[in-house]
Amino acid sequence: MSYIEATDTSLRKTGQIKLHGASGFAGMRKAGALVAKCLDELTDVVTAGVPTSRIDEFVRDFAFSHGAYPATLMYRGYRYSTCTSINHVVCHGMPGDRALKEGDIVNIDVTFIVDGWYGDSSRMYVIAPIARKAERLIEVTYEAMMRGIAAVKPGATTGDIGHAIQSFVEPQGMSVVRDFCGHGLGRMFHDEPNIIHIGRPGEGVMLKPGMFFTIEPMINLGKPHVKILSDGWTAVTRDRSLSAQFEHSVGVTATGVEIFTLSERNGEKPLATT
Ligand code: MF3
Ligand code: CO
Ligand code: CO
Repeated sequence: MSYIEATDTSLRKTGQIKLHGASGFAGMRKAGALVAKCLDELTDVVTAGVPTSRIDEFVRDFAFSHGAYPATLMYRGYRYSTCTSINHVVCHGMPGDRALKEGDIVNIDVTFIVDGWYGDSSRMYVIAPIARKAERLIEVTYEAMMRGIAAVKPGATTGDIGHAIQSFVEPQGMSVVRDFCGHGLGRMFHDEPNIIHIGRPGEGVMLKPGMFFTIEPMINLGKPHVKILSDGWTAVTRDRSLSAQFEHSVGVTATGVEIFTLSERNGEKPLATT
Protein backbone atom coordinates (compact mmCIF):
# COMPACT_ATOMS: atom_id res chain seq x y z
CA MET A 1 0.00 0.00 0.00
CA SER A 2 1.49 3.37 -0.94
CA TYR A 3 0.70 6.87 0.32
CA ILE A 4 0.29 10.17 -1.49
CA GLU A 5 -0.06 13.82 -0.44
CA ALA A 6 -3.76 14.51 -0.88
CA THR A 7 -3.24 17.89 -2.54
CA ASP A 8 -1.58 16.12 -5.47
CA THR A 9 -4.42 13.74 -6.15
CA SER A 10 -7.62 13.88 -8.07
CA LEU A 11 -10.95 13.05 -6.46
CA ARG A 12 -10.73 9.46 -7.60
CA LYS A 13 -9.93 6.25 -5.80
CA THR A 14 -6.31 5.74 -6.81
CA GLY A 15 -5.37 2.71 -4.73
CA GLN A 16 -3.09 4.97 -2.73
CA ILE A 17 -3.75 6.25 0.78
CA LYS A 18 -4.22 10.02 0.82
CA LEU A 19 -2.36 12.04 3.45
CA HIS A 20 -4.10 15.33 4.18
CA GLY A 21 -2.74 18.62 5.51
CA ALA A 22 -4.16 21.45 7.61
CA SER A 23 -6.87 22.41 5.10
CA GLY A 24 -8.12 18.82 5.09
CA PHE A 25 -8.33 18.78 8.87
CA ALA A 26 -10.27 22.06 8.76
CA GLY A 27 -12.68 20.66 6.17
CA MET A 28 -13.26 17.46 8.13
CA ARG A 29 -13.81 19.37 11.39
CA LYS A 30 -16.59 21.37 9.78
CA ALA A 31 -18.27 18.37 8.12
CA GLY A 32 -17.89 16.22 11.23
CA ALA A 33 -19.31 18.87 13.54
CA LEU A 34 -22.43 19.24 11.39
CA VAL A 35 -23.04 15.47 11.39
CA ALA A 36 -22.62 15.41 15.19
CA LYS A 37 -25.11 18.27 15.56
CA CYS A 38 -27.65 16.42 13.42
CA LEU A 39 -27.18 13.23 15.47
CA ASP A 40 -27.58 15.31 18.67
CA GLU A 41 -30.84 16.80 17.45
CA LEU A 42 -32.16 13.39 16.42
CA THR A 43 -32.34 12.47 20.10
CA ASP A 44 -35.59 14.46 20.31
CA VAL A 45 -36.98 13.05 17.05
CA VAL A 46 -36.45 9.37 17.79
CA THR A 47 -39.47 8.48 19.92
CA ALA A 48 -42.11 5.77 20.09
CA GLY A 49 -44.55 5.88 17.19
CA VAL A 50 -42.23 7.72 14.81
CA PRO A 51 -41.74 5.98 11.45
CA THR A 52 -38.14 5.83 10.22
CA SER A 53 -39.19 7.81 7.14
CA ARG A 54 -39.66 10.81 9.45
CA ILE A 55 -36.08 10.42 10.68
CA ASP A 56 -34.98 10.42 7.04
CA GLU A 57 -36.93 13.62 6.33
CA PHE A 58 -35.39 15.28 9.38
CA VAL A 59 -31.86 14.37 8.26
CA ARG A 60 -32.51 15.52 4.68
CA ASP A 61 -34.03 18.84 5.78
CA PHE A 62 -31.25 19.38 8.33
CA ALA A 63 -28.62 18.87 5.63
CA PHE A 64 -30.21 21.17 3.08
CA SER A 65 -30.89 23.92 5.62
CA HIS A 66 -27.22 23.85 6.69
CA GLY A 67 -25.66 23.92 3.22
CA ALA A 68 -24.80 20.23 3.25
CA TYR A 69 -25.76 17.28 1.04
CA PRO A 70 -26.62 13.81 2.45
CA ALA A 71 -23.97 11.59 0.87
CA THR A 72 -26.16 8.48 0.77
CA LEU A 73 -28.92 10.16 -1.27
CA MET A 74 -28.74 8.62 -4.76
CA TYR A 75 -25.47 6.90 -3.82
CA ARG A 76 -25.17 3.66 -5.83
CA GLY A 77 -28.94 3.67 -6.23
CA TYR A 78 -29.68 4.24 -2.53
CA ARG A 79 -32.59 6.69 -2.22
CA TYR A 80 -32.44 7.93 1.37
CA SER A 81 -30.56 10.53 3.40
CA THR A 82 -29.74 8.15 6.23
CA CYS A 83 -29.64 4.47 7.19
CA THR A 84 -31.94 3.35 10.02
CA SER A 85 -31.04 -0.11 11.28
CA ILE A 86 -33.45 -1.51 13.86
CA ASN A 87 -32.77 -4.42 16.26
CA HIS A 88 -31.40 -7.37 14.21
CA VAL A 89 -30.61 -5.11 11.24
CA VAL A 90 -26.81 -4.83 11.13
CA CYS A 91 -26.54 -1.85 8.77
CA HIS A 92 -28.00 -0.16 5.66
CA GLY A 93 -31.59 -0.37 6.95
CA MET A 94 -33.78 1.70 4.65
CA PRO A 95 -36.12 4.28 6.17
CA GLY A 96 -39.79 3.50 5.65
CA ASP A 97 -43.18 3.04 7.29
CA ARG A 98 -41.90 1.02 10.25
CA ALA A 99 -42.79 2.94 13.41
CA LEU A 100 -40.41 2.73 16.34
CA LYS A 101 -41.79 1.07 19.45
CA GLU A 102 -40.86 0.44 23.06
CA GLY A 103 -37.87 -1.89 23.37
CA ASP A 104 -36.42 -1.05 19.92
CA ILE A 105 -32.78 -0.14 19.48
CA VAL A 106 -31.88 1.67 16.27
CA ASN A 107 -28.67 2.81 14.64
CA ILE A 108 -28.91 6.04 12.68
CA ASP A 109 -26.04 6.61 10.24
CA VAL A 110 -25.56 10.07 8.77
CA THR A 111 -23.00 11.19 6.20
CA PHE A 112 -22.90 14.83 5.04
CA ILE A 113 -20.86 16.45 2.31
CA VAL A 114 -19.85 19.94 3.47
CA ASP A 115 -17.70 22.05 1.12
CA GLY A 116 -16.66 18.80 -0.55
CA TRP A 117 -15.60 17.03 2.67
CA TYR A 118 -17.40 13.93 4.00
CA GLY A 119 -18.32 13.53 7.67
CA ASP A 120 -19.66 10.04 8.51
CA SER A 121 -20.96 9.01 11.93
CA SER A 122 -23.60 6.82 13.52
CA ARG A 123 -25.03 6.24 16.97
CA MET A 124 -27.51 4.00 18.73
CA TYR A 125 -30.87 5.36 19.90
CA VAL A 126 -33.28 3.48 22.12
CA ILE A 127 -37.00 3.50 22.73
CA ALA A 128 -36.97 2.95 26.49
CA PRO A 129 -37.34 0.72 28.31
CA ILE A 130 -35.11 -1.80 26.53
CA ALA A 131 -33.92 -5.26 27.57
CA ARG A 132 -30.85 -5.42 29.79
CA LYS A 133 -29.02 -7.48 27.14
CA ALA A 134 -29.69 -4.77 24.56
CA GLU A 135 -28.25 -2.19 26.96
CA ARG A 136 -25.13 -4.30 27.42
CA LEU A 137 -24.74 -4.73 23.65
CA ILE A 138 -24.88 -0.97 23.14
CA GLU A 139 -22.40 -0.29 25.95
CA VAL A 140 -19.95 -2.90 24.62
CA THR A 141 -20.27 -1.58 21.06
CA TYR A 142 -19.59 2.02 22.08
CA GLU A 143 -16.61 0.98 24.20
CA ALA A 144 -15.33 -1.19 21.32
CA MET A 145 -15.36 1.80 18.95
CA MET A 146 -13.59 4.01 21.49
CA ARG A 147 -10.92 1.36 22.13
CA GLY A 148 -10.38 1.11 18.37
CA ILE A 149 -9.99 4.89 18.19
CA ALA A 150 -7.58 4.87 21.14
CA ALA A 151 -5.29 2.55 19.16
CA VAL A 152 -4.85 5.17 16.41
CA LYS A 153 -1.48 6.96 16.25
CA PRO A 154 1.35 7.27 13.74
CA GLY A 155 3.23 3.98 13.43
CA ALA A 156 0.31 1.86 14.65
CA THR A 157 -1.47 -0.36 12.11
CA THR A 158 -5.03 -1.14 11.05
CA GLY A 159 -4.48 -4.54 12.69
CA ASP A 160 -3.92 -2.77 16.02
CA ILE A 161 -7.35 -1.13 15.64
CA GLY A 162 -9.05 -4.43 14.79
CA HIS A 163 -7.28 -6.21 17.62
CA ALA A 164 -8.31 -3.57 20.17
CA ILE A 165 -11.94 -4.10 19.16
CA GLN A 166 -11.99 -7.89 18.75
CA SER A 167 -10.05 -8.64 21.94
CA PHE A 168 -12.50 -6.53 23.93
CA VAL A 169 -15.73 -7.81 22.35
CA GLU A 170 -15.27 -11.56 22.02
CA PRO A 171 -14.49 -12.39 25.67
CA GLN A 172 -17.94 -10.95 26.47
CA GLY A 173 -19.61 -13.58 24.30
CA MET A 174 -20.50 -11.10 21.55
CA SER A 175 -19.21 -11.15 17.97
CA VAL A 176 -17.68 -8.70 15.50
CA VAL A 177 -19.26 -8.52 12.03
CA ARG A 178 -16.74 -9.36 9.29
CA ASP A 179 -18.69 -8.42 6.17
CA PHE A 180 -18.56 -4.63 6.60
CA CYS A 181 -15.68 -2.41 7.56
CA GLY A 182 -14.62 1.16 8.17
CA HIS A 183 -13.09 3.07 5.28
CA GLY A 184 -10.85 5.91 4.29
CA LEU A 185 -12.77 9.12 3.55
CA GLY A 186 -12.13 12.80 2.95
CA ARG A 187 -13.25 14.30 -0.34
CA MET A 188 -14.60 10.81 -1.16
CA PHE A 189 -17.16 8.68 0.72
CA HIS A 190 -15.37 5.33 0.59
CA ASP A 191 -11.63 5.30 -0.09
CA GLU A 192 -8.51 3.33 0.87
CA PRO A 193 -7.81 1.77 3.30
CA ASN A 194 -10.43 -0.65 4.63
CA ILE A 195 -10.59 -0.60 8.42
CA ILE A 196 -11.41 -4.14 9.48
CA HIS A 197 -12.76 -4.47 13.01
CA ILE A 198 -10.85 -7.64 13.82
CA GLY A 199 -7.13 -8.24 13.54
CA ARG A 200 -3.74 -8.92 14.97
CA PRO A 201 -1.33 -6.35 16.40
CA GLY A 202 1.19 -5.03 13.90
CA GLU A 203 -0.63 -6.42 10.86
CA GLY A 204 -2.35 -4.48 8.11
CA VAL A 205 -1.65 -0.96 6.89
CA MET A 206 0.65 1.43 8.77
CA LEU A 207 -1.07 4.60 10.02
CA LYS A 208 0.52 7.94 9.11
CA PRO A 209 -0.32 11.55 10.03
CA GLY A 210 -2.94 13.00 7.69
CA MET A 211 -4.85 9.75 7.10
CA PHE A 212 -8.64 10.11 7.48
CA PHE A 213 -10.90 7.10 8.00
CA THR A 214 -13.93 5.79 9.89
CA ILE A 215 -14.08 3.25 12.70
CA GLU A 216 -17.56 1.71 12.75
CA PRO A 217 -17.74 -1.70 14.42
CA MET A 218 -20.95 -3.71 14.11
CA ILE A 219 -21.34 -6.04 17.09
CA ASN A 220 -23.85 -8.90 17.39
CA LEU A 221 -25.21 -10.58 20.50
CA GLY A 222 -25.12 -13.88 18.59
CA LYS A 223 -22.98 -15.08 15.69
CA PRO A 224 -21.20 -12.67 13.33
CA HIS A 225 -22.88 -13.87 10.14
CA VAL A 226 -25.08 -11.55 8.12
CA LYS A 227 -27.32 -11.83 5.08
CA ILE A 228 -28.61 -9.18 2.71
CA LEU A 229 -32.38 -8.99 2.21
CA SER A 230 -33.95 -9.05 -1.26
CA ASP A 231 -34.06 -5.21 -1.34
CA GLY A 232 -30.32 -5.44 -2.00
CA TRP A 233 -29.38 -3.20 0.95
CA THR A 234 -30.70 -4.31 4.35
CA ALA A 235 -28.11 -6.43 6.18
CA VAL A 236 -29.47 -8.57 9.03
CA THR A 237 -27.97 -11.08 11.43
CA ARG A 238 -28.48 -14.63 10.12
CA ASP A 239 -29.46 -15.84 13.58
CA ARG A 240 -31.75 -12.79 14.08
CA SER A 241 -29.76 -11.76 17.16
CA LEU A 242 -29.57 -8.07 18.07
CA SER A 243 -26.87 -5.95 16.44
CA ALA A 244 -25.47 -2.53 17.34
CA GLN A 245 -23.04 -0.08 15.75
CA PHE A 246 -21.31 3.22 16.44
CA GLU A 247 -19.20 5.18 13.96
CA HIS A 248 -16.81 8.11 14.12
CA SER A 249 -14.71 9.79 11.42
CA VAL A 250 -11.15 10.33 12.64
CA GLY A 251 -7.83 11.76 11.48
CA VAL A 252 -4.32 10.63 12.38
CA THR A 253 -2.41 13.57 13.92
CA ALA A 254 1.33 13.96 14.53
CA THR A 255 0.94 12.35 17.93
CA GLY A 256 -2.37 10.46 17.99
CA VAL A 257 -5.91 10.87 16.77
CA GLU A 258 -8.53 13.58 16.28
CA ILE A 259 -12.23 12.63 16.27
CA PHE A 260 -14.04 14.83 13.75
CA THR A 261 -17.58 13.73 14.64
CA LEU A 262 -17.51 14.21 18.42
CA SER A 263 -20.68 15.54 19.98
CA GLU A 264 -20.56 18.91 21.71
CA ARG A 265 -23.50 17.81 23.78
CA ASN A 266 -21.89 14.40 24.39
CA GLY A 267 -25.26 13.06 23.36
CA GLU A 268 -23.94 10.00 21.61
CA LYS A 269 -24.15 7.58 24.49
CA PRO A 270 -27.84 6.76 24.18
CA LEU A 271 -28.25 5.40 27.66
CA ALA A 272 -27.13 8.73 29.09
CA THR A 273 -29.92 10.55 27.26
CA THR A 274 -32.95 8.41 27.98
N1 MF3 B 1 -22.76 5.59 6.04
C1 MF3 B 1 -22.45 4.22 5.66
C2 MF3 B 1 -21.03 4.00 6.08
O1 MF3 B 1 -20.76 4.14 7.24
C3 MF3 B 1 -22.63 3.97 4.22
C4 MF3 B 1 -24.03 3.90 3.80
S1 MF3 B 1 -24.08 3.68 2.11
C5 MF3 B 1 -25.73 3.57 1.79
O2 MF3 B 1 -20.12 3.77 5.34
F1 MF3 B 1 -25.83 3.66 0.51
F2 MF3 B 1 -26.19 2.47 2.29
F3 MF3 B 1 -26.35 4.57 2.35
CO1 CO C 1 -18.76 4.80 7.19
CO1 CO D 1 -21.77 5.74 8.14
